[in-house]
Amino acid sequence: MRLICGNALTPLVVVSHSDCSSPQPRAQIMASRSSAPKPSVAERMPDGRLHAPSAQRNAQAILTVLKQHTPSKGRVLELASGTGQHAVTFADALPDLDWQPTEVDAARLASIRLWAAEAALPNLRDPIRLDATAPGWGADHAGQDLILLVNLLHLIPEPAVRTLITEAAAALAPGGRLMLYGPFLRNGEATSEGDRAFHTSLQAQDPAIGYKDDFDMADWIHAAGLELIDLIDMPSNNLVFVARKAGGAA
Ligand SMILES: C[S@@+](CC[C@H](N)C(=O)[O-])C[C@H]1O[C@@H](n2cnc3c(N)ncnc32)[C@H](O)[C@@H]1O
Repeated sequence: MRLICGNALTPLVVVSHSDCSSPQPRAQIMASRSSAPKPSVAERMPDGRLHAPSAQRNAQAILTVLKQHTPSKGRVLELASGTGQHAVTFADALPDLDWQPTEVDAARLASIRLWAAEAALPNLRDPIRLDATAPGWGADHAGQDLILLVNLLHLIPEPAVRTLITEAAAALAPGGRLMLYGPFLRNGEATSEGDRAFHTSLQAQDPAIGYKDDFDMADWIHAAGLELIDLIDMPSNNLVFVARKAGGAA
Protein backbone atom coordinates (compact mmCIF):
# COMPACT_ATOMS: atom_id res chain seq x y z
CA MET A 1 0.00 0.00 0.00
CA ARG A 2 1.27 3.44 -0.87
CA LEU A 3 0.18 6.43 1.19
CA ILE A 4 0.81 10.04 0.38
CA CYS A 5 1.42 12.08 3.53
CA GLY A 6 -1.44 14.44 4.13
CA ASN A 7 -2.79 16.64 6.84
CA ALA A 8 -6.01 17.02 8.70
CA LEU A 9 -7.14 19.93 6.59
CA THR A 10 -6.08 18.76 3.15
CA PRO A 11 -5.74 14.99 3.10
CA LEU A 12 -3.68 13.29 0.42
CA VAL A 13 -1.49 16.25 -0.33
CA VAL A 14 1.94 15.46 -1.70
CA VAL A 15 3.96 16.78 1.15
CA SER A 16 7.64 16.98 1.04
CA HIS A 17 10.82 17.35 -0.87
CA SER A 18 14.09 15.56 -1.24
CA ASP A 19 16.30 15.61 1.80
CA CYS A 20 19.95 14.65 1.90
CA SER A 21 22.09 13.77 4.81
CA SER A 22 24.29 16.60 6.01
CA PRO A 23 24.05 20.39 6.33
CA GLN A 24 25.55 22.38 3.42
CA PRO A 25 26.35 26.05 2.89
CA ARG A 26 23.41 27.91 1.34
CA ALA A 27 25.16 28.45 -2.03
CA GLN A 28 25.67 24.72 -2.39
CA ILE A 29 22.16 24.02 -1.22
CA MET A 30 20.65 26.28 -3.85
CA ALA A 31 22.73 24.73 -6.57
CA SER A 32 21.80 21.25 -5.45
CA ARG A 33 18.07 21.36 -6.18
CA SER A 34 17.23 22.28 -9.73
CA SER A 35 14.58 19.65 -10.34
CA ALA A 36 11.18 19.40 -8.67
CA PRO A 37 11.29 18.08 -5.10
CA LYS A 38 10.38 14.43 -4.78
CA PRO A 39 7.00 13.82 -3.18
CA SER A 40 7.21 12.33 0.28
CA VAL A 41 5.44 9.02 0.38
CA ALA A 42 5.09 6.39 3.05
CA GLU A 43 5.15 2.72 2.09
CA ARG A 44 3.57 0.08 4.31
CA MET A 45 6.12 -2.57 5.28
CA PRO A 46 5.11 -6.26 5.62
CA ASP A 47 4.85 -5.91 9.41
CA GLY A 48 2.44 -2.96 9.07
CA ARG A 49 4.83 -0.14 9.89
CA LEU A 50 4.85 2.85 7.54
CA HIS A 51 8.22 3.89 6.13
CA ALA A 52 8.83 7.33 4.62
CA PRO A 53 12.12 7.65 2.69
CA SER A 54 12.18 11.40 3.42
CA ALA A 55 12.13 10.74 7.18
CA GLN A 56 15.07 8.41 6.77
CA ARG A 57 16.97 10.94 4.64
CA ASN A 58 16.63 13.92 6.97
CA ALA A 59 16.89 12.17 10.35
CA GLN A 60 20.65 12.46 10.86
CA ALA A 61 20.80 16.14 9.91
CA ILE A 62 17.92 16.90 12.29
CA LEU A 63 19.58 14.83 15.01
CA THR A 64 22.72 16.96 14.68
CA VAL A 65 20.64 20.08 15.37
CA LEU A 66 18.77 18.36 18.19
CA LYS A 67 22.06 17.57 19.90
CA GLN A 68 23.03 21.25 19.74
CA HIS A 69 19.77 22.54 21.14
CA THR A 70 18.40 19.84 23.40
CA PRO A 71 18.91 19.72 27.15
CA SER A 72 20.72 16.62 28.37
CA LYS A 73 17.57 15.55 30.24
CA GLY A 74 13.95 16.54 29.91
CA ARG A 75 10.61 16.12 28.22
CA VAL A 76 10.16 16.28 24.46
CA LEU A 77 6.85 16.63 22.65
CA GLU A 78 7.09 15.75 18.97
CA LEU A 79 4.22 17.14 16.91
CA ALA A 80 2.99 15.44 13.71
CA SER A 81 5.31 12.48 14.24
CA GLY A 82 4.27 10.78 10.98
CA THR A 83 5.39 7.19 10.56
CA GLY A 84 7.30 7.02 13.87
CA GLN A 85 10.75 6.69 12.29
CA HIS A 86 11.94 10.01 13.71
CA ALA A 87 10.61 9.26 17.20
CA VAL A 88 12.49 5.97 17.34
CA THR A 89 15.69 7.38 15.85
CA PHE A 90 15.78 10.43 18.12
CA ALA A 91 14.68 8.68 21.32
CA ASP A 92 17.33 6.02 20.73
CA ALA A 93 20.09 8.60 20.13
CA LEU A 94 19.03 10.78 23.09
CA PRO A 95 18.27 8.25 25.84
CA ASP A 96 18.00 10.79 28.68
CA LEU A 97 15.11 12.55 26.99
CA ASP A 98 11.56 11.45 27.67
CA TRP A 99 10.12 11.37 24.11
CA GLN A 100 6.37 11.80 23.51
CA PRO A 101 5.30 11.32 19.88
CA THR A 102 1.94 12.70 18.76
CA GLU A 103 -0.14 12.57 15.59
CA VAL A 104 -3.59 13.46 14.35
CA ASP A 105 -3.93 10.64 11.84
CA ALA A 106 -5.06 7.19 13.01
CA ALA A 107 -3.00 5.21 10.48
CA ARG A 108 0.16 7.06 11.48
CA LEU A 109 -0.60 6.62 15.18
CA ALA A 110 -0.81 2.88 14.53
CA SER A 111 2.50 2.97 12.67
CA ILE A 112 4.22 4.89 15.49
CA ARG A 113 3.00 2.22 17.94
CA LEU A 114 4.51 -0.52 15.76
CA TRP A 115 7.86 1.29 15.39
CA ALA A 116 7.93 1.92 19.15
CA ALA A 117 7.08 -1.71 19.97
CA GLU A 118 9.88 -2.93 17.74
CA ALA A 119 12.40 -0.50 19.24
CA ALA A 120 11.29 -1.09 22.87
CA LEU A 121 12.99 2.06 24.14
CA PRO A 122 12.41 2.92 27.80
CA ASN A 123 12.32 6.67 27.04
CA LEU A 124 9.79 6.49 24.18
CA ARG A 125 6.17 6.92 25.26
CA ASP A 126 3.08 5.56 23.58
CA PRO A 127 1.94 8.06 20.92
CA ILE A 128 -1.05 10.22 21.67
CA ARG A 129 -3.54 11.87 19.33
CA LEU A 130 -2.90 15.59 19.12
CA ASP A 131 -4.14 18.08 16.53
CA ALA A 132 -1.29 20.59 16.64
CA THR A 133 -3.46 23.26 15.02
CA ALA A 134 -6.29 23.04 17.58
CA PRO A 135 -6.48 25.93 20.05
CA GLY A 136 -5.88 24.91 23.67
CA TRP A 137 -3.54 21.93 23.51
CA GLY A 138 -0.63 23.86 25.00
CA ALA A 139 -2.19 24.00 28.45
CA ASP A 140 -2.86 20.25 28.37
CA HIS A 141 0.79 19.46 27.62
CA ALA A 142 2.61 22.05 29.71
CA GLY A 143 6.16 21.60 30.98
CA GLN A 144 7.96 20.57 27.78
CA ASP A 145 11.70 21.16 27.51
CA LEU A 146 11.63 20.73 23.74
CA ILE A 147 8.90 20.71 21.12
CA LEU A 148 9.87 19.40 17.68
CA LEU A 149 7.92 19.71 14.46
CA VAL A 150 9.18 18.38 11.13
CA ASN A 151 7.55 19.09 7.78
CA LEU A 152 4.04 20.24 8.54
CA LEU A 153 3.93 24.04 8.25
CA HIS A 154 3.87 24.13 4.43
CA LEU A 155 0.76 21.94 4.52
CA ILE A 156 -1.44 24.09 6.73
CA PRO A 157 -2.84 27.63 6.45
CA GLU A 158 -1.24 30.64 8.13
CA PRO A 159 -3.80 30.90 10.99
CA ALA A 160 -3.15 27.23 11.81
CA VAL A 161 0.62 27.87 11.85
CA ARG A 162 0.13 30.79 14.22
CA THR A 163 -2.11 28.72 16.51
CA LEU A 164 0.45 25.91 16.51
CA ILE A 165 3.28 28.26 17.51
CA THR A 166 1.13 29.94 20.19
CA GLU A 167 0.14 26.60 21.70
CA ALA A 168 3.71 25.33 21.57
CA ALA A 169 4.84 28.46 23.42
CA ALA A 170 2.21 27.74 26.09
CA ALA A 171 3.38 24.13 26.41
CA LEU A 172 7.07 24.97 26.84
CA ALA A 173 8.63 25.07 30.29
CA PRO A 174 10.65 28.20 31.12
CA GLY A 175 13.83 28.00 29.03
CA GLY A 176 12.27 25.34 26.77
CA ARG A 177 12.89 25.30 23.03
CA LEU A 178 10.74 24.99 19.94
CA MET A 179 12.33 23.54 16.80
CA LEU A 180 10.48 23.92 13.50
CA TYR A 181 11.95 22.15 10.46
CA GLY A 182 10.76 22.39 6.88
CA PRO A 183 10.89 24.23 3.57
CA PHE A 184 10.31 28.00 3.67
CA LEU A 185 10.36 31.00 1.37
CA ARG A 186 13.27 33.41 1.95
CA ASN A 187 11.98 36.97 1.97
CA GLY A 188 9.08 35.89 -0.20
CA GLU A 189 11.15 33.90 -2.71
CA ALA A 190 11.57 30.19 -3.25
CA THR A 191 15.19 29.05 -3.18
CA SER A 192 15.08 26.91 -6.32
CA GLU A 193 12.87 26.06 -9.28
CA GLY A 194 11.96 22.81 -7.55
CA ASP A 195 10.81 24.61 -4.44
CA ARG A 196 8.86 27.15 -6.48
CA ALA A 197 7.12 24.33 -8.34
CA PHE A 198 6.28 22.49 -5.13
CA HIS A 199 4.98 25.63 -3.41
CA THR A 200 2.88 26.43 -6.48
CA SER A 201 1.51 22.89 -6.61
CA LEU A 202 0.49 23.10 -2.95
CA GLN A 203 -1.29 26.41 -3.54
CA ALA A 204 -3.03 24.99 -6.59
CA GLN A 205 -4.52 22.34 -4.30
CA ASP A 206 -5.43 24.89 -1.64
CA PRO A 207 -4.54 28.59 -1.93
CA ALA A 208 -4.31 28.83 1.87
CA ILE A 209 -1.37 26.44 2.16
CA GLY A 210 2.18 26.38 0.80
CA TYR A 211 5.61 27.47 1.99
CA LYS A 212 5.63 30.09 4.74
CA ASP A 213 8.00 33.05 4.59
CA ASP A 214 11.02 33.13 6.89
CA PHE A 215 10.36 36.75 7.97
CA ASP A 216 6.71 35.95 8.75
CA MET A 217 7.88 32.97 10.78
CA ALA A 218 10.16 35.19 12.83
CA ASP A 219 7.25 37.59 13.46
CA TRP A 220 4.89 34.80 14.52
CA ILE A 221 7.51 33.31 16.83
CA HIS A 222 8.05 36.67 18.52
CA ALA A 223 4.30 37.33 18.68
CA ALA A 224 3.95 34.08 20.62
CA GLY A 225 6.39 35.42 23.22
CA LEU A 226 9.37 33.32 22.14
CA GLU A 227 12.88 34.46 21.24
CA LEU A 228 14.29 33.22 17.92
CA ILE A 229 17.75 32.04 18.93
CA ASP A 230 18.91 30.19 15.82
CA LEU A 231 18.02 29.77 12.16
CA ILE A 232 19.87 26.89 10.56
CA ASP A 233 20.30 26.01 6.89
CA MET A 234 19.61 22.35 6.36
CA PRO A 235 20.05 20.01 3.38
CA SER A 236 17.74 20.40 0.41
CA ASN A 237 16.96 24.05 1.13
CA ASN A 238 15.20 23.35 4.41
CA LEU A 239 15.49 25.50 7.52
CA VAL A 240 15.24 24.91 11.24
CA PHE A 241 13.86 27.72 13.38
CA VAL A 242 14.96 27.36 17.01
CA ALA A 243 13.04 29.49 19.50
CA ARG A 244 13.37 29.75 23.25
CA LYS A 245 10.89 30.56 25.98
CA ALA A 246 12.11 33.04 28.58
CA GLY A 247 13.18 31.83 32.00
CA GLY A 248 14.98 28.71 33.17
CA ALA A 249 18.68 28.12 32.56
CA ALA A 250 20.08 29.80 29.40
C1 LIG B 1 4.81 15.50 5.86
S1 LIG B 1 4.26 14.48 7.13
C2 LIG B 1 5.64 14.67 8.27
C3 LIG B 1 5.70 13.57 9.27
C4 LIG B 1 6.95 13.54 10.12
N1 LIG B 1 7.07 14.71 10.97
C5 LIG B 1 8.16 13.41 9.26
O1 LIG B 1 8.87 14.38 9.04
O2 LIG B 1 8.38 12.30 8.76
C6 LIG B 1 3.04 15.52 7.92
C7 LIG B 1 2.38 14.83 9.08
O3 LIG B 1 1.59 15.77 9.76
C8 LIG B 1 0.44 15.12 10.22
N2 LIG B 1 -0.55 16.16 10.47
C9 LIG B 1 -1.29 16.82 9.57
N3 LIG B 1 -2.07 17.74 10.15
C10 LIG B 1 -1.81 17.66 11.46
C11 LIG B 1 -2.30 18.35 12.61
N4 LIG B 1 -3.22 19.31 12.48
N5 LIG B 1 -1.82 18.02 13.82
C12 LIG B 1 -0.90 17.04 13.94
N6 LIG B 1 -0.39 16.35 12.91
C13 LIG B 1 -0.85 16.65 11.68
C14 LIG B 1 0.09 14.15 9.12
O4 LIG B 1 -0.74 13.11 9.57
C15 LIG B 1 1.46 13.68 8.70
O5 LIG B 1 1.85 12.54 9.42
